[in-house]
Amino acid sequence: MNTHHTLKLCDRCYWDAASETVKLHHEIVPLTSNMKKLLKLLIGNYNKPISSVEIFLHIWDTYEQEYTPRNVRNLISNLRKRLPCLTVVNYYGGSYMLKKNRESHPVFTDHLIDILDQAKNGITISDPNQPDNPVIYINHAFANAFGYSPEEIIGKNCRFLQGDDRDQSALEEIRQAMKEQKDVTVILRNYHKSGELIYNEVTISPIFDKNTGKLKYYVGVQKDVTSIQQLIQQIKGMV
Ligand SMILES: Cc1cc2nc3c(=O)[nH]c(=O)nc-3n(C[C@H](O)[C@H](O)[C@H](O)COP(=O)(O)O)c2cc1C
Repeated sequence: MNTHHTLKLCDRCYWDAASETVKLHHEIVPLTSNMKKLLKLLIGNYNKPISSVEIFLHIWDTYEQEYTPRNVRNLISNLRKRLPCLTVVNYYGGSYMLKKNRESHPVFTDHLIDILDQAKNGITISDPNQPDNPVIYINHAFANAFGYSPEEIIGKNCRFLQGDDRDQSALEEIRQAMKEQKDVTVILRNYHKSGELIYNEVTISPIFDKNTGKLKYYVGVQKDVTSIQQLIQQIKGMV
């Protein structure tokens, strides 16, 4: 990979300056020309807020269109949809800033991710220091088991896998364990993207910073136990 032209935006996501393309998990992400202009501007101003007007003038440079913050907001939101792994911070007053994700998660080297991606069980990592503890990494086994692409999951809390089936006693066990920052293993009813029920045995473990002792991540290891659960239900029905 040509390091002069390729910039790592976030894990497994690269911006190629020469061809002006973004690759996520080795696949080119389709971007409109306005999204490309916006991304180039945000990259050029990493960790610095840029005003909405500045963005507008940079993108719609014909001066024919009147400035409205909504144009910029919509474009930012469309870019976020295409590249949910990017952290674009929105400041009150209409400024935007692209944050370097890698600085906040330096432990996830490509080598480590390659290893996790080959694991047979589902693996998820979440960031409890962000609002609502979103997932920041999922491996292939997890994505395949539930039929979602990483982009559809990253940035969300894992609870979306429960759908409307929220009345599960195991959830209280998870909440309690997380409150006490302890490990927990439970079986949850989850749903595949197609709507199919999956019994998911998940172990959630807190990961602490060795130096400060502060909670850094949660790691979830998921195993599909649907067939054994269905067998148990059948036996229960027989007795
Ligand atoms: C790392 C991690 C992995 C998780 N994996 C799952 C999962 O695979 N399925 C699921 O239904 N919930 C999973 N959860 C639990 C939910 O994110 C959430 O904690 C649970 O629904 C209870 O909290 P709530 O009441 O806020 O929803 C996971 C949580 C963490 C921290």
